[in-house]
Amino acid sequence: EQAGKGEYDHFMLKEIHEQPTALSQALEGRIDTQNGRIALADFDPGTFADIDSVQFIACGTSYHAALYGSLALKQAGVESTALLANEYSVSAPPVDDDTLVVAVTQSGETADTLNALRRAEAEGAMTVTVTNVVGSTAAREADEALFIRAGPEIGVAATKTFSSQAVMLTLLGQRIAADRHGDPPADLDTLLPELAAMPDALDDLLAETDAEAIAERYHNSRSYFFIGRGLGFPVALEGALKFKEITYEHAEGFASGELKHGPLALVTPDTPVFAIFTGQEDEKTLKNAEEAQTRGAPVVAVCPEDHRAVDVADAHLEIPETDADLAGLLANVQLQLVSYYAADLLDRPIDKPRNLAKSVTVE
Ligand code: AGP
Repeated sequence: EQAGKGEYDHFMLKEIHEQPTALSQALEGRIDTQNGRIALADFDPGTFADIDSVQFIACGTSYHAALYGSLALKQAGVESTALLANEYSVSAPPVDDDTLVVAVTQSGETADTLNALRRAEAEGAMTVTVTNVVGSTAAREADEALFIRAGPEIGVAATKTFSSQAVMLTLLGQRIAADRHGDPPADLDTLLPELAAMPDALDDLLAETDAEAIAERYHNSRSYFFIGRGLGFPVALEGALKFKEITYEHAEGFASGELKHGPLALVTPDTPVFAIFTGQEDEKTLKNAEEAQTRGAPVVAVCPEDHRAVDVADAHLEIPETDADLAGLLANVQLQLVSYYAADLLDRPIDKPRNLAKSVTVE
């Protein structure tokens, strides 16, 4: 097992560092920056032309990637919603043959997600799975499979598969919007080069990160809060899930604007707030972070170097400049690293957290 970790102490850290390669593999042959068109040759031309609405179904980290994909698709002008697969039987909106249901599952074997997928198929929806495992049950049962090509992920905490899922869902959303509207979405020209540059941006981030120092500074706190707006919201949820999963400490993610509707009562000098800035209404998020800071909470801004939040925050995790559709994914990698280093300082088992399994095959 040690041999498989290479130079790293844990699979999780290795897999965090594999993300530039994972994203290169995911994007290979799937985007065409020259002509400003997404290839996604995985699907025949016009595959999604008749789709009226999209439902994403998933659990855990994959649900956060699904929420990311759903928000991106809405921004591209297509009706969509993300649903927890284990709630699908009681919360699914109506489905017909103009509905696309996208099952997002790294393993392709999660029982809750497979059950929801089967239900959607029985009701006549077109189905696609976005998965890492060729030959998995989801890949075999869905009408179409879009493979994220992240390579094996051994750590129970999903890291590289989240990034690859979110990027593939962003691409899929652009493709659905293009098929539906007959033309590529207007912002595609700016998005594609930034997508192609993601592996390099991640390399830069990983080469120079203050995540270990931030973990050192705050790892003995009472609770940890993560806030984000728009595409930063699923990243806040994912930051908190990762943190609680491997550190065993209490962490919660909130939509930035929700802080004042209740969670602010929990904020004290002993509850660091990680604020994610993606370029979507950042002024509002900064105001929300300052409200926490006024109550004594240290604020860690996750944003580019020249962002106004850097002057306001108590600490900073830098992300390279990129498109607002992708900034949250870079922020998420900084948060993965903070969780990892905090768990290491707390002497947690990291790759195999108590009570958790890599693939949950029971309901
Ligand atoms: C995340 O770190 C967890 N391992 C967990 O939430 C996981 O994402 C969830 O169980 C879904 O798994 P899947 O992607 O294999 O369906």
